[in-house]
Amino acid sequence: MVPLLYLFSHCSETPNVSQSSKKMNSKELGLVLGQQLLGVDDLHYGLWMDDLPLGFANLAEAQQRYTNQIINALPAVKDKKTGQQTSVIDIGCGTGHILAQLLERGFAADGLVPAPKLAEQVRQRLVAHSDKSTRLFESTFEQFPIDERRAYYDAALFSESYQYIPMSASFPILAQIVKPGGRVVICDFFKTEHAGDGQPGDKSFGGGHKMHEFYTELGKHPFSLLEDIDITRQVSPNIKLLDETLMLRLVPAGQTLDRYLRENHPRIWGLIKAVFKMFFGKKIKKQKYKYFTGHRTQAVFERYKTYRLLVLRRDA
Ligand SMILES: C[S@@+](CC[C@H](N)C(=O)[O-])C[C@H]1O[C@@H](n2cnc3c(N)ncnc32)[C@H](O)[C@@H]1O
Repeated sequence: MVPLLYLFSHCSETPNVSQSSKKMNSKELGLVLGQQLLGVDDLHYGLWMDDLPLGFANLAEAQQRYTNQIINALPAVKDKKTGQQTSVIDIGCGTGHILAQLLERGFAADGLVPAPKLAEQVRQRLVAHSDKSTRLFESTFEQFPIDERRAYYDAALFSESYQYIPMSASFPILAQIVKPGGRVVICDFFKTEHAGDGQPGDKSFGGGHKMHEFYTELGKHPFSLLEDIDITRQVSPNIKLLDETLMLRLVPAGQTLDRYLRENHPRIWGLIKAVFKMFFGKKIKKQKYKYFTGHRTQAVFERYKTYRLLVLRRDA
């Protein structure tokens, strides 16, 4: 939901994965906080169809529909001829919610997540699947141990994680770990041709590779595009939901709190604000522009981002 980047290393076997001692970074904080505040298992947008009223009560259902769409884009659970289980890797698997569903549906699935706090959640979730030989790689995809999984997977999946990995790094790795004829499923947003036009809202949403650069990069690697579905209009209501909560609830609540503190504790509150401004002035200004100037709207998202479900085939 929030653009994120993680820089961690080393993979390990589940459930005996080594605990990372690395500090939580601000991006991981954003993800984990968002998940905790919203009380959801998924860290991706929801898919809002006409029959599903927009509201927090339906967020989990919308997210599940998004997950179903991704899983439906994967090959069948078993090979029709050999009866062999289809092997999938969920790259940037967040809390492991999709990974667990893949296992429940009968896929042979591995996960990869670089963020220690999220890896912890994945490990807990995998306890219920300890009978399966799932592996959790705790590293960035850029540091994936290719030799351990060469031509191994029938499918690789990126659910809103593709944007965090440089394309020039991910394609060569995918080409080596996905079997010829196998698939890569990417569900994520990209920057449209409007990105960088300097209009109000241009900088309101971070993240995403440039769409045209994706097609150019794809052309350099042994993959063919099987499907390219624009789902921007089905995911953008998520922005409306968050924007309204922010502007109609959090902003007035913040103003009330500010007024109370100004009136009752003017000295100490003034001091706190001054210190904050001194140390985090630039950051606060940036976040204020991003979140509180009313530019973070559904329409702005639809102008600057295009959300795609992409299915690629690894050429033979
Ligand atoms: C928005 S979350 C999506 C999580 C999950 N796939 C889902 O759909 O709920 C982004 C995920 O990408 C992961 N990530 C960030 N940088 C990464 C990298 N360089 N390599 C692999 N995964 C990365 C994060 O740890 C996080 O799990």
